[in-house]
Amino acid sequence: MRIAVIPGDGIGKDVTAEAVKVLKAVTQVTGRSIDLEPLPWSADYFLETGITLPPNGYTMLRNEFDAILLGALGDPRVPDNRHARDILLGARFELDLYVNYRPVRLLDDRLCPLKNRGRKDVNFVVFRENTEGVYVSVGGRFKAGTEDEVAVQEEINTFKGVNRIVRHAFEYAAAHGHKKVCMADKSNAMQQGHALWQRVFKTVAAEYPAIQATHMYIDALAMFLVKDPGQFEVVVTNNLFGDIVTDIGGALQGGLGMAASGNIHPGKTSLFEPVHGSAPPLAGKNVANPIGAILSAALMLDTLGATDEAARIEAAVEAAVHQDQTTADVGGTLGTSQVGDGIAARVRA
Ligand code: NAD
Ligand code: IPM
Ligand code: MN
Repeated sequence: MRIAVIPGDGIGKDVTAEAVKVLKAVTQVTGRSIDLEPLPWSADYFLETGITLPPNGYTMLRNEFDAILLGALGDPRVPDNRHARDILLGARFELDLYVNYRPVRLLDDRLCPLKNRGRKDVNFVVFRENTEGVYVSVGGRFKAGTEDEVAVQEEINTFKGVNRIVRHAFEYAAAHGHKKVCMADKSNAMQQGHALWQRVFKTVAAEYPAIQATHMYIDALAMFLVKDPGQFEVVVTNNLFGDIVTDIGGALQGGLGMAASGNIHPGKTSLFEPVHGSAPPLAGKNVANPIGAILSAALMLDTLGATDEAARIEAAVEAAVHQDQTTADVGGTLGTSQVGDGIAARVRA
């Protein structure tokens, strides 16, 4: 398999190095051939060359690679975040990666931030629509910089976009033996765009009578994720709400550094990345938690059919967490690269 590796900015570089280390270890053990091709696209590259990604960048990713592993993008020296928009959001749009799959699974009771809750309460998945919503940058600014400024940012919801993510959530639930799918929107206030979510959800739910279809307004979902996360199995929501609630999901797993994700178009070149960002204050200090990145690499392998390798990585991560072989954010005393070394060693053992 051929993988494009984009470490990106800040701790993206630190954690991706560890994910690569673990990928090399696991493929060495199983004998699977893997070609990890580093791509320099980042704030540094943009500031040096003026290029965010080359004109053939998306075509190259789509045609020459089986998957993309990304660290994070975001750097204070690029205040308008242009490179992240082109590289990350650009890949989501141009490769049509409409499923943002964000599993929320607590690996050890000790890491749960909620009182009297544990692993049985934190085990669900979020499907975030990943190609439309407010992320499409439809809109504009009029009289920018003056006291008469008008700023418009439209939310785009299409039948195609809503239908395919809602359908994906139900298909996933059915395939994985889940009994519940919860859709979250803001249809009480956003009576145009989210009426479409309501209509589609009801239509698709009717095709899955064995699955209990529930609805929550997004504000209530945020509250129940903290108060009683055990009620959730599969959550589906739009791009912005999914972004926000999966940071809550990160916290439920012990911290943002633990959370993995896949930006997926089933059957096509997809992109895998930790949920967290580039955390500039932590960059280059060997303190960032690499587990979200390592679990994203496992998710990538699983999606590509390398299920044995994925399971080996997941087991190694779980063992490391149980034995406190972790970074400080989740209670350990190790550095980023020592955590990666430990997980790689467990994968080899
Ligand atoms: P962030 O996720 O980078 O960091 C928020 C806080 O979470 C950090 O200060 C740190 O306390 C903690 N944290 C995050 N990841 C961690 C890890 N691996 N180990 C330990 N602690 C960790 O979010 P932010 O500070 O809002 O954003 C920083 C930059 O990252 C911005 O430029 C933002 O746009 C970008 N960003 C990029 C992505 C991405 O590329 N996918 C995702 C989110 C944010
Ligand atoms: C994420 C990030 C991105 C998003 C940013 C960097 C644009 O927060 O992947 O969760 O909002 O989608
Ligand atoms: Mn986010």
